[in-house]
Amino acid sequence: MTDHTPLTVGILVSGRGSNMLSILRAVDRHELNIQVGVVVSNNSDAPALDHAVRYNVPTAVVDHRETPKDREAFEKRVDAVLRDHNVDLVVLAGFMRILSPFFVRQWPHKVINIHPSLLPAFPGLHAQRQALETGVKLSGCTVHFVDEGTDTGAIIGQVSVPVADHDTEETLSTRILAQEHLLYPKVLGWFADKRVRVHDQRVYIEPINE
Ligand code: GRF
Repeated sequence: MTDHTPLTVGILVSGRGSNMLSILRAVDRHELNIQVGVVVSNNSDAPALDHAVRYNVPTAVVDHRETPKDREAFEKRVDAVLRDHNVDLVVLAGFMRILSPFFVRQWPHKVINIHPSLLPAFPGLHAQRQALETGVKLSGCTVHFVDEGTDTGAIIGQVSVPVADHDTEETLSTRILAQEHLLYPKVLGWFADKRVRVHDQRVYIEPINE
């Protein structure tokens, strides 16, 4: 028998939250067999929190500054919130803290992130600026598993975006972001439909099971 229980996701944010919104909108339109169990922000001023409240999603603030020199203590508090809300999959959406191996090991192949470049090119901060400085003609966005490195985990989905000669960091970021907003919900649909398989650090998307 097919299991139709919705996948419960926890979304971690730090700021604007436009990717989170694209997910909440897709859930609201019943396009994904997903429920957003909780949105967690490390920053109480994140506009993302207001958006989540508008969509009646539970929110929590776990401020990393309360335990400044102890990353594990911060991550244990985040972990507790996620478990309290029975989260199956952790979705990073503009979450500006690097998660340590401690956290990643608690959630093996259960933490995903979106990054504004075609990884493995341009990991880390200012990916769009790095693309412009390097002179690539194509960039894009990547959804990947989070492992113990920075933007090094197995790649789940990518979309390419052409780089124009006249692009600035802002114009390129805007065009990439529009694709992020389509890619993240699409990838979450693959998880909700249990189509994501990992083998030897490679991700395979199973064909649709009718
Ligand atoms: C996006 O560009 C995402 O790729 C990167 O951080 C940005 C977050 O934007 N990881 P938003 O908060 O989702 O609007």
